[in-house]
Amino acid sequence: MTDTLALSLPDLDVVPAVWSRYTDLVIDHGQGSWLTTVEGERYLDYSAGIGVTNTGHAHPRVAAAIATQAAKLIHGQQNIVFHEPGLLLHQRLAGLMPTPGWGAFLSNSGAEAVEAAVKLARVATGRPAIIAFRGGFHGRTGQTMALTSSRVTIRGDFEPLPGSVYHTAYPYCYRAAGGPHDPSACTCDWEAQLETLFAQMVDPRHVAAFIIEPVIGEGGYIVPSPGFLPRLREIATRHGILLIADEVQTGYGRTGRMFAMEHWGVTPDILVMAKGIASGLPLSGILAPREMLGKWAPGAHGGTYGGNVVCCAAALATLDVIADEGLVENAAARGRQLLAGLAPLKDRHEAVGDVRGLGCMVALEFVHPHARDPRSPDPSMVKRVLAEALKRHLLLLSAGSWGQVVRIIPPLVTTQHEVDHAIGVITESVEAAAAA
Ligand SMILES: Cc1ncc(COP(=O)(O)O)c(C=O)c1O
Repeated sequence: MTDTLALSLPDLDVVPAVWSRYTDLVIDHGQGSWLTTVEGERYLDYSAGIGVTNTGHAHPRVAAAIATQAAKLIHGQQNIVFHEPGLLLHQRLAGLMPTPGWGAFLSNSGAEAVEAAVKLARVATGRPAIIAFRGGFHGRTGQTMALTSSRVTIRGDFEPLPGSVYHTAYPYCYRAAGGPHDPSACTCDWEAQLETLFAQMVDPRHVAAFIIEPVIGEGGYIVPSPGFLPRLREIATRHGILLIADEVQTGYGRTGRMFAMEHWGVTPDILVMAKGIASGLPLSGILAPREMLGKWAPGAHGGTYGGNVVCCAAALATLDVIADEGLVENAAARGRQLLAGLAPLKDRHEAVGDVRGLGCMVALEFVHPHARDPRSPDPSMVKRVLAEALKRHLLLLSAGSWGQVVRIIPPLVTTQHEVDHAIGVITESVEAAAAA
């Protein structure tokens, strides 16, 4: 039956090439950490749909919540009516923050939620400028492209982009100008560079917000030095600048905490969520103090589908699954297991420049060890590793400004046994790629 289905499909080039492709797999269904093709081949999915399927593919409780809700009401527009899943979700999301008084605004995609955060920060402060961090990724709309500096491909062909956006250094300890070092003894000069930006380009009195990924995602899974976010919080508070945490990729348990900012005990002023929030249905949102949300005049922001009722039902079921199955704790444990299993690769292969991660965001950075600069990025090695892993039925992704990073994003339901299997496959794939 699957062969007939495959034969009846149009050529794959009906989908435009702008969706730069990792694989040509045509998937029939997914379950937990696994995807099955129309030919019946199974793949361990450590891409998780780019960090979305935290509860695994088609979790039965999430699927049931979606089906039940879809049979009752598919669209109840936010400006026109209230609905029970939406009301409950707003309340539960606010409860994810450490103090009372928070509220949520719901939208459809990560980029849309970042747009909302920037619009709110400008209204709340009456200031124009936004400071983003080098290597960060925030989306593909006009404003979010302007904030993004992870790769030139994202923004390079689309200038001019919205202004009053400034970029400053993020502590990327492996690529620090003074040489690679352990983040726990960070010597990156990010604070001096920020002070220089204030002195040369933008007065802090004109800055509405910093926007920061607590762990840089598309830019290469870069975990900051321990003092960075607490210090940034101090600087923001001192200047009356809001701190926006873009937790689109790091949130919802991915790093072994519900939100990554918790690792450093830092509370942002606005938190951006998407990806894992509804296990794959398009939903996103921001969390901010209700008082701040109230500064938006009625009608100042919105959208036809924001807080869609089926997506809200999926999001409520997702929160239940995360709590009942201990997925945040599992993310921390499986992440430690992955890092421990992959760390020896750095000693065994000169091409592996760095092995790093936090929770279930794990990365291998590849370099040309015999180049004049031994940290010279090696994207070709990454492509070979991904291809070798795919041959062994493991899906991985790349990241990094040069495509020099293999990123490993298991669903948070992944098991100890699956992680052991993945470590074996990745080890073999690096060996095969290094020998090629
Ligand atoms: C940190 C971060 N912010 C924003 C986005 C944009 O999200 P979306 O693709 O849903 O618009 C992404 C997507 O990868 C992301 O990783």
